Amino acid sequence: MCGIVGYTGPREAYPIIIKGLKRLEYRGYDSTGVALHNGGLKVYKKKGKVAELEDAIVGKDLHAHVGIGHTRWATHGEPSDRNAHPHRSASGKLAMIHNGIIENYNQLKKELDNLGYSFSSETDTEVLLNFIEEIKKNNQCDLEEAVRVALKRVTGAYVILLLDEDNPDTIIAARKGSPLVIGIGKNEHFLGSDASPMLEYTKEVVYVNDYELAIVKPDELILKNLGNEKITPYVQKLDLELAAIEKGGYDHFMLKEIFEQPQTIYDCLRGRLDASEGTITMSGIQQYAEDIMTANRIIMVACGTSWHAGLVAEYIFEELCRINVEVEYASEFRYRNPIINKGDVIIAISQSGETADTLVAIENAKEKGAIILGVVNVVGSSIARTSHGGAYTHAGPEIGVASTKAFTAQLAVLTMIALKIGYIKGTISQDRYMNLLNELQQIPEKVAWTLKHSSTIKTLAQKYKDAHDFLYLGRGYNFPVALEGALKLKEISYIHAEGYPAAEMKHGPIALVDENLPVVFVATKDAYYQKVVSNIQEIKARKGKVIAVITEGDESIAGMADDVMIVPEADEILAPMLSVVPLQLLAYYIGVAKEYDVDKPRNLAKSVTVE
Ligand code: AGP
Repeated sequence: MCGIVGYTGPREAYPIIIKGLKRLEYRGYDSTGVALHNGGLKVYKKKGKVAELEDAIVGKDLHAHVGIGHTRWATHGEPSDRNAHPHRSASGKLAMIHNGIIENYNQLKKELDNLGYSFSSETDTEVLLNFIEEIKKNNQCDLEEAVRVALKRVTGAYVILLLDEDNPDTIIAARKGSPLVIGIGKNEHFLGSDASPMLEYTKEVVYVNDYELAIVKPDELILKNLGNEKITPYVQKLDLELAAIEKGGYDHFMLKEIFEQPQTIYDCLRGRLDASEGTITMSGIQQYAEDIMTANRIIMVACGTSWHAGLVAEYIFEELCRINVEVEYASEFRYRNPIINKGDVIIAISQSGETADTLVAIENAKEKGAIILGVVNVVGSSIARTSHGGAYTHAGPEIGVASTKAFTAQLAVLTMIALKIGYIKGTISQDRYMNLLNELQQIPEKVAWTLKHSSTIKTLAQKYKDAHDFLYLGRGYNFPVALEGALKLKEISYIHAEGYPAAEMKHGPIALVDENLPVVFVATKDAYYQKVVSNIQEIKARKGKVIAVITEGDESIAGMADDVMIVPEADEILAPMLSVVPLQLLAYYIGVAKEYDVDKPRNLAKSVTVE
């Protein structure tokens, strides 16, 4: 996700743009930049947050009545000055900002390379910009037409804003798959990724739809489709306040991020998983496929929620790749002087990419000859840069301290790696491989189904919010999900919760069970199902309250449990991406019911960069 802002009208553009970018920093903060047009194009951009750019260009010529601005969440090309937006075309006469991913940018780049183009950045954005300029030059058409022709060749998601040195008051914008709002003022127009940059100036907005192109002048807004047909703008009145807009209309970032998961898992799979072709494309893994296949063992190294993702991955890799997997708390792994053999592969899992224990653990292992692969969300972060290879989770900025969408994105990436390696190794049959690819492709919509059927969880939260302790139980792939559910509850509601393998109850913890103890079972239909049913009966026999995450249509457990939360049927390997969602919501709604700050829980930080 990136934040984009534009302005054209009688006011000074720069103050409007820079303030708007600050409001959009929740969408990304790797680098920022502005392009202003005042007789000629001026571009100021740098790595870092908006305030750093602001400080760096004090005293520069910032006078202009039209401009565009961008705050970046890196996807292609790590955070740096040269990868920051806006980008300028080869001729220098065009400047563009972009939010999204151009999936076929490599192909477009090859065509431009053959025409002698060179590039100053590693971004897909610069490729698209020069592709547009090449069409403008080659077809001898205006910029609007060149954008239309170019976008018909583009696959992926985009919002682009363009300035043209030859059209000083005009901004050309287009969108597909990423958001664009245009604010209607008196002889002025505002553009933004959401309405937050324009809210103080106007509440009349137009939400641009996919495959639409906007030609925006101070006193005129023209909307067209890619077939060059005019569209009547549908002007709406905003009734949201600023805080709500940044959270996308949700009460908290945590809830927004839980509900973003269908999209973020889709973004994680996009451009990598092609179920119809039966292919998984991950260049950062492909080059180490041989190392993984021949590894004596794979060691998952992480902390917290990411460690839980590593536990799920242990089951998946051992099942699909038949490779010995160990899962290590980074903090323990780094201090106990572990035995690392050449040929060991370490997978470091981290949302922030800056967790100190994980970073030092892989630095030590790298010195001892291990291959380090990162499964990281923040592009260009320390763990990503320390790793030999890996794959980004593309979940976008995760603002809520409790990790939610990053966890399911980690599982999606780890599943794709295991499927890819298992297929190459031949430890998974063609049928099972193809079935799992098709099922994995359906996970975003199954998460959406789960969210749509989650309305009862708010009621459950009211019923159980005063409990002093919880147990979370699961078996197999759902055991790590039980741990994750317990962690979410602890973090957000400050209620003590413990996760255990369900079978472990009889070795002591069952002594805790009485009528005051809610026990959450992650009990989706899988190979362990009948055993879990027995465990539920053991708890019920001791008057424990049972809340169960069950597979849609499971009347058996529904008849035993006090309360149920439902997920769609899915292969047990993929089920954790579904069964965790009700647990995320249960923790969230209990935290809200107890009136805690669920986005910033006490004592916690989003990224633990200290030891
Ligand atoms: C999870 O909800 C917590 N915020 C915390 O356990 C987190 O997962 C852990 O600190 C690891 O962070 P990382 O994924 O950024 O490395």
